[in-house]
Amino acid sequence: MHRSAFSHSIICFIFCIICSSSADVDTCSGLVPMKNRYDKISITDFGGVGDGRTLNTKAFREAIFRIQHLKRIGGTLLYIPPGEYLTESFNLTSHMTLYLARGAVIKATQDTANWPLISPLPSYGRGRELPGGRYISFIHGDNLNDVIITGENGTIDGQGNVWWNMWRQRTLQFTRPSLVEFMNSKHILISNVIFKNSPFWNIHPVYCSNVVIQYVTILAPRDSPNTDGVDPDSSSHVCIEDSYISTGDDMVAVKSGWDEYGIAYGRASSEITIRRVSGSSPFAGIAIGSETSGGVQNILAEHINLYDMGIGVHLKTNIGRGGYIKNINISNVYIDKARTGIKIAGDVGDHPDENFNPNALPVVKNVNIRVVWGDNVLQPGLIRGLSGSPFTGICLSNINLNSGTKPRKTAPWLCSDVKGAAVGVSPWPCAELASSHQTGQCSTPFA
Ligand SMILES: *[C@@H]1O[C@H](CO)[C@@H](O)[C@H](O)[C@H]1NC(C)=O
Ligand SMILES: *[C@@H]1O[C@H](CO)[C@@H](O)[C@H](O)[C@H]1NC(C)=O
Repeated sequence: MHRSAFSHSIICFIFCIICSSSADVDTCSGLVPMKNRYDKISITDFGGVGDGRTLNTKAFREAIFRIQHLKRIGGTLLYIPPGEYLTESFNLTSHMTLYLARGAVIKATQDTANWPLISPLPSYGRGRELPGGRYISFIHGDNLNDVIITGENGTIDGQGNVWWNMWRQRTLQFTRPSLVEFMNSKHILISNVIFKNSPFWNIHPVYCSNVVIQYVTILAPRDSPNTDGVDPDSSSHVCIEDSYISTGDDMVAVKSGWDEYGIAYGRASSEITIRRVSGSSPFAGIAIGSETSGGVQNILAEHINLYDMGIGVHLKTNIGRGGYIKNINISNVYIDKARTGIKIAGDVGDHPDENFNPNALPVVKNVNIRVVWGDNVLQPGLIRGLSGSPFTGICLSNINLNSGTKPRKTAPWLCSDVKGAAVGVSPWPCAELASSHQTGQCSTPFA
């Protein structure tokens, strides 16, 4: 007995050493663990045909209806074998895994005329692009718990070009569909999937908690309009890691509704981690806003690799937004080629309507940005606060952003209505940021 207890503790001890050595790399796997589902069904059991032409809407809806109503203990896995499965939009249900095999493609129909509409989000008061309702996301989930989308890097293809062309030709009637949207849901895991050519935003968790997105690839052409990668919106405990995102708009943008609608709904985005994400975009790598009326706080972004960017890090809000952006920690960002390295601005984005309150000024405070290195960055930094609500506690350290080529002079930082500190920043930022961290402006040690 003693002996086995002893050997047991030895095994535990060794195991703990293995655990703690692999724990050197932070991951969010513990937030929403992967689950093995013992009940498994295949889309082909429901008549699914992966020939790229057959419409599989009925197969998807029936398979998911079966999962929802049979309620097997531990949930059910819906297997999508290799092949191209064309379908209209469909809803997921709780306690399910959507599993895409290697070579499986779930492809959205381009029949925009019959695409279903749903109500606007309360924190937006209308569609994000146009007044009224909005087209439902291609893959949708409302009020769900315990949903996994994973597999062997199969593809969810939005075939968005018809939508992009409608946007370009101004023939859209309502706001374009996201590729995947979860509303009011929790315990969501999305991993090892490729997202391609979304009509609009790619992955949109809104009013959600406990969401993990890891090992995903998100691709859309550089000129595709508003194809944001991941937009956590009025959501908490969201973790995005180990992913590659190259799209036509912000790679990751944390939001929380806009103007009078977002203020009234009052739901913040908080406890969000973004790490080991790389990619390229004509807009921002890490963005917060500009829709921040419910507030955005406690955001950590680290180990971000960016190339050929519009802006590296972009915090953006507007007059009439109200809300706040606070306790933001961003570190270890590497940028190769960008128009602007770091931008924090209070005059970005449009308004849902004319009823916004011009006295609803956003608060931006406690933003720590450290260890940012950039080459071929034309404008290192731009911080434009609001005269009625100056940005405070903006703390920069160990930042080197240069224009690369020798003869070209790096442009100076431009700042207004901002207080904070800067240490080891090159080129030197601006007089508004005192040259010491003893100023009491910085909430956390950052040197
Ligand atoms: C999908 O869910 C939305 C709202 O959550 C609902 O309006 C719609 O009817 C559902 N679609 C189907 C096909 O069940
Ligand atoms: C899927 O792609 C990701 C990102 O490239 C990679 O890390 C992961 O190992 C791949 N997974 C599988 C199952 O092939």
